[in-house]
Amino acid sequence: FRHSYSQLQPQSNRPSFGIAFDIDGVILRGRTPIGGSPQALRRLYRDDGTLKIPFLFLTNGGGVPESKRASELSELLGIQISRRQVLQGHSPFKEVVNGYENELIVAVGKGEPAAVMSEYGFKKVLSMDEYASCFKDIDPLSHYKTWRIKQTYDENSSKELLPRYDVYSDRVKAAFVVSDPIDWGRDIQVLCDILRFGGLPGRDKGHQPPIYFASDDLEYQAAFPTERLGMGAFRIALEGIFNSVSSSPLKYTSFGKPNPFVFKNAEVILTQLVSDIFHSQDNMDGGTGHEFSTLYMIGDNPKVDINGAMKAGRPWFSILTRTGVFRGKDNDTQFPADLVIDTVEEAVDYILKRER
Ligand code: G3P
Ligand code: MG
Repeated sequence: FRHSYSQLQPQSNRPSFGIAFDIDGVILRGRTPIGGSPQALRRLYRDDGTLKIPFLFLTNGGGVPESKRASELSELLGIQISRRQVLQGHSPFKEVVNGYENELIVAVGKGEPAAVMSEYGFKKVLSMDEYASCFKDIDPLSHYKTWRIKQTYDENSSKELLPRYDVYSDRVKAAFVVSDPIDWGRDIQVLCDILRFGGLPGRDKGHQPPIYFASDDLEYQAAFPTERLGMGAFRIALEGIFNSVSSSPLKYTSFGKPNPFVFKNAEVILTQLVSDIFHSQDNMDGGTGHEFSTLYMIGDNPKVDINGAMKAGRPWFSILTRTGVFRGKDNDTQFPADLVIDTVEEAVDYILKRER
């Protein structure tokens, strides 16, 4: 759904600032709101529930389409969040659809990685679960695994059932790590097969197809007291193993923060949100004429959130909270934020006072 941005506002009332919120370690830990996040976010809405201050979520996480993540966040936080306000690690994957629209690709990770890619316009997508299940014995440890995944071959016969696509002669043209992989052992094995054998596991060696990662976070803050290994850790594991079994080193591309283009994109979306909130007569510019004097990035990870805002430069202003990866008393030494504060609630309070 969309917000009802109904009121016409004079241009002078347009806020000259916007806010990007990191999710894990700032807004949520696991599925639990932290740092007074629901109260903080409520302050960005009018009494009638419409948006007052342009804001979005800028997370390296993901695994479900943006529309679904928006509904999940709305429910957890008790506010109305639109799909456009959710930028996930994999959101930029839609920009590379052109090369692969009708090509076979494999989507890896927790949640619904194939649904994410289909929504971006990729027409021939298989999740790693489905792809791996097409190849009998590709994972020699599968019989020891107590969890069940959807099988597309008949376990009682040596014959594979027909998969949706001809995976035995159709090469995988690219692999996309959409979200944190669940079964690292199988996924590293099968990705090595795809990457070493030119997209056809069990065949002769071939050119490495491209592999894209939604982000490169070594660690992130989840519900456990200390950090958990993220997609960057998986990338290191895959790369270390691939480079040991292959004659040429792994070539890969990572998206997500701290890449400055992620912040540039956030700025574009925030500008469009201003146009939506204030969809006024002067909206002939298509939402690109508005200039922010300040864009706030509120994050918990200096290496990712603060470093990213620093690289993006003006008008970004970075705020580091102590509810996630960073727990220090003073500022981070390597990537110092413009402001260090305990919680997201205090951060929003600071911003609203500063912008009054
Ligand atoms: O898997 C999620 C993690 O990599 C980071 O999420 O919201 O802190 O950018 P976030
Ligand atoms: Mg975080």
